[in-house]
Amino acid sequence: MTLPPNQPVRSFAPGSPERASLIAELARQRANPRRVLPVINGKKVDTGTSTDMREPHAHANSLGTYASAGAPEAQAAITAAIDARHDWSRMDTAARRAVFLRAAELLAGPFNDRLLAATMLAQSKTAFQSEIDASCELIDFLRFNVAFAEQIEAMQPLSSPAERNRLEHRPLDGFVFAAAPFNFTAIAGNLAIAPALMGNTVVWKPSERAVYSAAFLMDLFEAAGLPPGVINMLPAETPAAIGDTVFSSPHLAGVHFTGSTAAFDRIWQTVGSNVSRYRSYPRLVGETGGKDFVFAHVSADVDALVTALVRGAFDYQGQKCSAASRAYIPLSLWKPVTERLAEIVSSLTMGNVSDLTNFMGAVIDQRAYTQISAFLDHAASAPGHRKIAGAAPSDETGWFIPPTVIACTDPKSRIMTEEIFGPVLGLYAYPDGKLAETLALVDQSTPYALTGAIFAQDQAVINQLSLALRDSAGNFYINDKPTGAVVGRQPFGGGRRSGTNDKAGSPFNLLRWSSPRTVKETF
Ligand code: ALA
Repeated sequence: MTLPPNQPVRSFAPGSPERASLIAELARQRANPRRVLPVINGKKVDTGTSTDMREPHAHANSLGTYASAGAPEAQAAITAAIDARHDWSRMDTAARRAVFLRAAELLAGPFNDRLLAATMLAQSKTAFQSEIDASCELIDFLRFNVAFAEQIEAMQPLSSPAERNRLEHRPLDGFVFAAAPFNFTAIAGNLAIAPALMGNTVVWKPSERAVYSAAFLMDLFEAAGLPPGVINMLPAETPAAIGDTVFSSPHLAGVHFTGSTAAFDRIWQTVGSNVSRYRSYPRLVGETGGKDFVFAHVSADVDALVTALVRGAFDYQGQKCSAASRAYIPLSLWKPVTERLAEIVSSLTMGNVSDLTNFMGAVIDQRAYTQISAFLDHAASAPGHRKIAGAAPSDETGWFIPPTVIACTDPKSRIMTEEIFGPVLGLYAYPDGKLAETLALVDQSTPYALTGAIFAQDQAVINQLSLALRDSAGNFYINDKPTGAVVGRQPFGGGRRSGTNDKAGSPFNLLRWSSPRTVKETF
């Protein structure tokens, strides 16, 4: 079975039709504030509350308001999901897959600008970042998951003339709770799409920090013909109001989560303490934090290394679980690497994403701004830190944290070991001769194991580093940045405290949403 091609990435170059059309859509959305409501069983439900949605790079601008779901809406969404499960799970699988292929076609067509602009405005992504996320990656998730679901259906056990054996892919016995992060429209979508494609029905909680872009995704699912109740959207200013109801439901059958390690810990603890209530053991699939490394060997190509550090650390304002956030540079390369980094980083532009000229936008909100600023304050005051590049943060018009590079003399510094989730890169210079000790540091100094990259020219060294760092990352890149996994090419996920490593964008993830029935028929 062949896989589809990846959706091509456009450049939005000045004068291009896609640029003109995106600019028009940005203006249209900014002129038309939206009221977002929970969607339960295909119906919009106004709870009467009103939470403002603002542009992170221009926080005076409101994108509209949303009505927050609470316990009654969570209960109604669970009921709707359970009711919809009967028909959805029995639907012909080709017809079910067709809904998601239709969504991909709509997203490649009339919905494209809508999702791109909404993602830029709600998450402060540049046009290029938004193109990769809300267009290419989301279209790829839809199309590839359909192809993977077909492959899974085709994988059948042996039969003989006297007996016929088959695996029927049933959904889990209950509903799936999908809880999304703010930083990727594609991830938010896939958290609901993957279980739904396998016949599950979903209670979907978008991040309270990116409700605006999630609302456009819900429009897309509806326009593609997704039946009512299959994906129920619950925006909630206080996520616990949803969680308490969801985690105490006997019908909870699975959790598809992307977000912080601390939040996933709470989910495991809550599910564990409620386990005897559930009709079946819920499947817990989570992709959590990271403190992703770049390790340079003395044989590294300096230009390629510096490009990877800049793109890996500062694309998406560093708000990526996969962002390069700690780098280990041999002393003999320290001078050329730091000089080149300082030069490039100080030339990066940052500002309002709507004008399509900046390399970076703002971080998501005041909470993120304050948390990241606290790391910068720590680096400014604690001994053993030296800023190599980075201007002062500014919250005057938007939540702007300039890209910052900090040299740390202690490889156990907070800057080198804690997840910052912002545009801050820590660097540590290691003596060229201390390879084994430094590799041990890379592996042991954080609890995470999401992504990592090595830079080396020598194949024997590449093999040695790959082996030494085998458990340190679920996505391992050789001579490339540790970010930007492409669906169908680099299945994504990590181990240790970075998650359950169920590999988004692969058949492995889809299998988590199936409870297969083995059927033997004798003749
Ligand atoms: N899947 C995203 C990446 O690889 C987070 O960067």
